[in-house]
Amino acid sequence: MKEYKLLSFPQLGDERGNLVVVEGMKEIPFEIKRMFYIYGTQEGVVRGQHANKNSQFVLINLSGTCKILVDDGKSREIVELNKPHEGIYLNKMVWKDMYDFSKDSILLVLSDCGYDGGEYIREYEEFKSEIK
Ligand code: TYD
Repeated sequence: MKEYKLLSFPQLGDERGNLVVVEGMKEIPFEIKRMFYIYGTQEGVVRGQHANKNSQFVLINLSGTCKILVDDGKSREIVELNKPHEGIYLNKMVWKDMYDFSKDSILLVLSDCGYDGGEYIREYEEFKSEIK
């Protein structure tokens, strides 16, 4: 079992345009406590580069494209997020890098936890040994 999963959300649009809805405990596999979004990212920037001991996340790229490298200690994959109706679920203790943001990328992040700087693992070797 991987600790991350691609999600495809129902599209409720009609002739007027597109509409996507996500709800906690439905399309999002947790109750949503926090959201933040990343946009206007400069060329060449790599964000993330950490794992979280407690937080689960769903990442949705609302506009443009970006790439997510995910690593749960068992498998490592690069996923391009380029559709507003797709996302990726990350369980706690998944290493992630976010990079190759297009100029118009807006990356929405939903989490089940409030922010706690103390739950971050920022050393890959520490992550690898904790995951064992
Ligand atoms: P950072 O951890 O560098 O973001 P990323 O995971 O995208 O690389 O966060 C940048 C700053 O924002 C840092 O000072 C911590 C702060 N921050 C919060 O206060 N709350 C949050 O929910 C997040 C994600 C970051």
